[in-house]
Amino acid sequence: MAHDDQPSNSSDNRTFADILETRLSRREVMLGGLAAAAGFLAAGGSIASTRQTAKPGEEITASREEARIDFEPVLRTDGGGPMPAISADYEYQVLIPWGTPLQPGIAEYKGDPATRPTAAQQADMIGIGHDGMWLFPERTRGGRSSSHSGILCINHEFGRNPHVLGKHSPENLEDVRLSQHAHGVSVVALEERAGRWRVAYSPLNRRVHVNTPVAFSGPVVDTAAGRELLDLNRRAHDARGTVNNCSSGHTPWGTYLTCEENFNGYFGATGNWTATEARQRYGFSRNGFGYGWEKFDARFDLPSQAFANEDNRFGWVVEIDPHNPDAKPVKRTALGRFKHEGAALTEGKDGRVVVYMGDDQRFDYIYKFVSADNWRSMQARGASPLDEGRLYAARFNDDGRGEWLELSIDNPVLTARFATQAEVLTYARLAADALGATPMDRPEWTSVAPDGHVYCTLTNNSKRSKANAANPLAPNPDGHIIRWRDSEQHTGTTFAWDLFLIAESTHGTEETFSDPDGIWADPDGRLFIQTDGNQQDGLNNQLLVADTRSGELRRLLTGVHGDEITGLAITPDRRNLFCNTQHPGNGDPTRTNFPAAPDGSTIPRDCTFVIRRKDGGIVGS
Ligand code: FEO
Ligand code: CA
Ligand code: CA
Repeated sequence: MAHDDQPSNSSDNRTFADILETRLSRREVMLGGLAAAAGFLAAGGSIASTRQTAKPGEEITASREEARIDFEPVLRTDGGGPMPAISADYEYQVLIPWGTPLQPGIAEYKGDPATRPTAAQQADMIGIGHDGMWLFPERTRGGRSSSHSGILCINHEFGRNPHVLGKHSPENLEDVRLSQHAHGVSVVALEERAGRWRVAYSPLNRRVHVNTPVAFSGPVVDTAAGRELLDLNRRAHDARGTVNNCSSGHTPWGTYLTCEENFNGYFGATGNWTATEARQRYGFSRNGFGYGWEKFDARFDLPSQAFANEDNRFGWVVEIDPHNPDAKPVKRTALGRFKHEGAALTEGKDGRVVVYMGDDQRFDYIYKFVSADNWRSMQARGASPLDEGRLYAARFNDDGRGEWLELSIDNPVLTARFATQAEVLTYARLAADALGATPMDRPEWTSVAPDGHVYCTLTNNSKRSKANAANPLAPNPDGHIIRWRDSEQHTGTTFAWDLFLIAESTHGTEETFSDPDGIWADPDGRLFIQTDGNQQDGLNNQLLVADTRSGELRRLLTGVHGDEITGLAITPDRRNLFCNTQHPGNGDPTRTNFPAAPDGSTIPRDCTFVIRRKDGGIVGS
């Protein structure tokens, strides 16, 4: 989405010399070639090699075949229309558009503006702004994971007022509630019958939205001073909601992680209000993004004393148990507060859980969390592996190495600025500023490949005026993908990095893309890449597949006018890939009516594609 484009980092963590005076060819930047070309050290030396690691909780196994990408790509000339285009070797099915009921007895909202749902109806329907998601497969009687049924958790990142309400500003609390209920997360059971996927009306189906009761956990709530930052000493009963749920993660113990990104934009000020330094750093402003919730819901009115520090209650990673509809979503404060794009989990040394996370804003940082102990033993003693551990921000040095800087109150640099660890976590951006983390070109998704590489999309940064090795283009309007290998099986404090791909280097070729955002590394060495931004040559946003060994890149799908392609989930057999079109047509029916037929009578609706090879093969092959 486009709200990420106002830099709020005025710290001076831009200490690297300009290293690239000319634009690079694609051949030079693929597969680590950039590091060699620029004279950087390759991984090795004191950096311990990373063993092959399976993703914890992944139901998905590597195929025995060599990874191949041999599908017929969507040509540049075919990917720019009002309807999606998919490889001739593939097919897609549309699933769960915005307005799909989660229980029987409610009519689907099909995009006819005259039949908008009420706020109460929207709370029982799929929301808008489909984004990160994961499929939790059903266990069969034999204990196997089904590839034909499961529970999908899906984020609803945002929906602008004209699209959701049919007006620019809410006129009453009902309007605000409709908008709020369109945001959040859906938990929805899916099943495949006779080759078609559909919603199953399960008691597990539920909506989590801006008014759903939530809990807080971890270091920020362990002390009264920390609880004060969230106003929990006074009104713990009132902890509610999640918003701007962007990308996601999933845990080895079967829960879903939803990540709060541009939460600042939902707050505004009806009266006198001046932003503190911390609130400026998190981008709060009098008018926010123009949702206008503050006019009728004092919880989002920044000067409101009744809801003091409500803003600090957003910007967290939130854990949802898809199998327990009575369990409150839990905000895991140990993972820090920033504009969380996603949370890529892997199992590191000694069974510790490692979570890689991007903070998507120009000149913001990449973070990782390492649990205190083996996740199974933590759970055995009743502790959440996401409540105790260390949080780090990344510094990328120009020599191809990097350091993880711990956000700990024990560090004198932070002791001088913060009173407690709770403050360090609540204002993680400020702590990372002080430590000298490397400001990046908008870190979006991360994904951990089976060979130990961690890939991260840096979507773009048109405001960069000074390049460094990790962000080598100034400005960088089209983005790049960086990758690294951590020391000590993801738990160490050093890493070796290189650049995987610079988007600009694909321009003018059949593989052209810009603005990488969603990524997923499959078990066979493919990298699925999704885009969100203006593409070259009249293309809509797209889903591409890269072979991380050969560098081959092919276009699998393109969306519709005005959308972004985002969200990735897969069945255990990897024969069904789920991905989303978000904000098709930007809500404008003159641009597209998708997923309805183009007859001009309905507004376009965000929805999910189920993508399959026509021959039943592995998706991506
Ligand atoms: Fe929600 Fe940065 O994309
Ligand atoms: Ca984006
Ligand atoms: Ca994104």
